[in-house]
Amino acid sequence: MPKKDVASRQTTINAQPRIHQRAPEIQVYGTVSHALPLALDEPVRLEMTEQLNLMLADTMTLRDLYKKSHWQVAGPTFYQLHLLFDKHYGEQAELVDVIAERIQLLGGISVAMAPDVAETTRIERPPRGREEVPVQISRLLDAHQIIIEHCRKLASRASDLEDAGTNDMVVSQVLRTNELQVWFLSEHLVEMPLVHAQEPGMRKVG
Ligand SMILES: [Fe+2]
Repeated sequence: MPKKDVASRQTTINAQPRIHQRAPEIQVYGTVSHALPLALDEPVRLEMTEQLNLMLADTMTLRDLYKKSHWQVAGPTFYQLHLLFDKHYGEQAELVDVIAERIQLLGGISVAMAPDVAETTRIERPPRGREEVPVQISRLLDAHQIIIEHCRKLASRASDLEDAGTNDMVVSQVLRTNELQVWFLSEHLVEMPLVHAQEPGMRKVG
């Protein structure tokens, strides 16, 4: 190699960080890596990563809806709901990482940033302001329902396509966590006297 070429390839040793760098993407969103030794065909991985990105965007939105509810909750049940909403937030945050990393290991690209999540999610956008507890819980339950319906369809499709890993993750982690959280939330929407039990004969069982 001529001396001049060797010189142009050498980088100057310098202690300064090279900041403000930009370069073209190394993989376009919506594609999967061609060659992965997973014994899963590329069209299968493409379909699964597309579906998992919908589930990821919905899960990130539900996660954030829990934090909004944790911060903004009001009323006599403030303390218990403040804690419960944050517990569910933490569990949803774990699911976000599990789903995102399944997309990446299948050769795809996980949706990540808030504007992209907002464009992708099927969950209704709440107002910025505070809402009453029954409305907060109803919104959370509606969001869970969207994810649970998707879990059942995606688990079945993954099974048909012999993607056992996606089927297992969707059922044992995403579906089961969402089902349990629905139980804990929905019990708060049961009309129940706090101090005086109803007199016998006054009670209507519906
Ligand atoms: Fe907090």
